[in-house]
Amino acid sequence: MKIRIILSIFISLMTTGILVSQIPGTKPMNLHDYMEDHMEIAEKQFKKGKKEKLETILKRLPELAPEADREEWEKITTSHLEKGDLLKSCKSCHTKFKKTYKKTLRKKILDIPEEMLIE
Ligand code: HEC
Repeated sequence: MKIRIILSIFISLMTTGILVSQIPGTKPMNLHDYMEDHMEIAEKQFKKGKKEKLETILKRLPELAPEADREEWEKITTSHLEKGDLLKSCKSCHTKFKKTYKKTLRKKILDIPEEMLIE
């Protein structure tokens, strides 16, 4: 009897843990889905003259980088933000990081901040 009570308390604690582990104001997804469902739309908006979203995304993109590559991502995004050729940042980063990211981190779930999402 006792063991069942302890067990059910334990299970409910775990479930609450899972529920609150999603950080408020963020959406969990892997980088691939983020790039396809949000980054590409920001790119299209940019081409139509609506530039703010892509700027915001590129400013914050290094936050999503793997720890070891964060500095490099930051260098890439800042240099394109400074030059204003934001559309060239895609290739700069992809050439260097896309292949290894896909190989090792394809399934990693990131908490994407709301400001980086396109509704
Ligand atoms: C600082 C790094 C960085 C920048 C800048 C960046 N990306 Fe990406 N992108 C990545 C990485 C890493 C992946 C691989 C993610 C995966 O598939 O797991 C990726 C994957 C993608 C994919 C998935 C499709 C594919 O080819 O595998 C698309 C689409 C994409 N990016 C679009 C863009 C566009 C459009 C821009 C510029 C407006 C951009 N990205 C800028 C890092 C970046």
